[in-house]
Amino acid sequence: MTDHPIIPLRELPPGQRVGQFEIIRLLNRGGQAHIYLARVPFDGGLPIATLEETLRRRMRADALRAFITDQRICALKIPFVDFADHLTDEYEYLRRASDPPPALVRLYTPPVDRTRHTREIPGPPAARFADANGAMHQLPYLPLEYSAGGSLKDLLRAGQPLPPGAAVAIALQVGYALSYLHGVLNLVHHDVSPSNIVFRTPLDPTEPRAPECVLIDLAVAYHPARPTQRFRFGKEKYLPPESNTMAGGRFDYVVDTFSLGVVLLEMLHGTLPSTTDAVRQQRPRYVPVAPLLPQCSPALCDIIDAMLQPDPARRPAMATVVQWLGGTPEAQQPASLVRPDGVPAASTSPVINRVLLIAAGIVAGLTGLVACGVLAILLIGSTPAEPATTAVVPRSTIVQPTSTLAPVR
Ligand SMILES: Nc1ncnc2c1ncn2[C@@H]1O[C@H](COP(=O)(O)OP(=O)(O)O)[C@@H](O)[C@H]1O
Ligand SMILES: [Mg+2]
Repeated sequence: MTDHPIIPLRELPPGQRVGQFEIIRLLNRGGQAHIYLARVPFDGGLPIATLEETLRRRMRADALRAFITDQRICALKIPFVDFADHLTDEYEYLRRASDPPPALVRLYTPPVDRTRHTREIPGPPAARFADANGAMHQLPYLPLEYSAGGSLKDLLRAGQPLPPGAAVAIALQVGYALSYLHGVLNLVHHDVSPSNIVFRTPLDPTEPRAPECVLIDLAVAYHPARPTQRFRFGKEKYLPPESNTMAGGRFDYVVDTFSLGVVLLEMLHGTLPSTTDAVRQQRPRYVPVAPLLPQCSPALCDIIDAMLQPDPARRPAMATVVQWLGGTPEAQQPASLVRPDGVPAASTSPVINRVLLIAAGIVAGLTGLVACGVLAILLIGSTPAEPATTAVVPRSTIVQPTSTLAPVR
């Protein structure tokens, strides 16, 4: 036993310790990292099952926030081996963000550490992980404040347009966060997309609530004068034409203007229209969005058109976008939303999804076997040639535990 046990490099089970944190469950698997719900254990902390049960309950937003703070719950981002340096940079960017706007993700510091001068910490916390072949990897990890309301991607899965007041409120919050990134941290986010916009608390199915957004994932962000090869990792559908053509070249902050324009259009239209594909492929003529958005004011449509300009030199800076959006009639409309049917209260666990899928497979398999059996009996008659057998579940469909608590030696 050492003070720094080696952690198996696979999906971590509830109860697994990572430094001072304890895993509650997997929240999501991104393109570069696993993101877990985790907590800092303390005397008097609730058992994991009770925590989970409470988080599933319908609660007032302020009660939920207080619960998350009191129980020292956070999100823990653990990178895949190839993306460790992305995460080290993300940590550094977030550490530099003193006094960030509410819609920018923050590093999580447990209450006992609140007085510590975080600038003295040289880098992100790290732990030793062992892969399936026994090879060791020293990986950094990122403790983040937990946003319990799922992502904009989850919300847009319903394929329904959001009320214009709510769409503009979301774009404004994300726009403020981006203005801060551009103006204070001198960073291009370069991955503004619905999966990188999360909600602090869940929407309610009946009581309208104003969405509180958080822009996450600075894993591919960079200073515009020092572009990295990471532009390859942004999501193509949300990136401007210059991202296709200027491989490794100089990008400007207005990359993010374009991406936020696509997200805004998607929120207002319910799905992504082909307009943005056309822009990305640099079709000769830009087609204005007004016919797609009959519910929106001409002013709002003009702003989206400006954001989606194929020529980066013609796109407004984010601070201008924020100013313009704030002056639209939609910014005066109610921003509150109810959770549409079919959208989960918060991001559902991929683990639960997988278990449900496997369970469905087993049920389908058993049903098939029973049906075959009945058919066989009907065909062969009441005296089967072979002794009757019980249905056997194929081995491949049996749920195997994906991991154990035992550290790899
Ligand atoms: N702080 C957080 N609170 C809640 N969910 C989060 C948080 N950070 C990430 N997630 C979830 O994990 C997903 C992937 O996280 P992200 O940081 O974007 O990883 P990647 O760099 O691999 O894309 C997000 O889409 C979101 O669903
Ligand atoms: Mg992401």
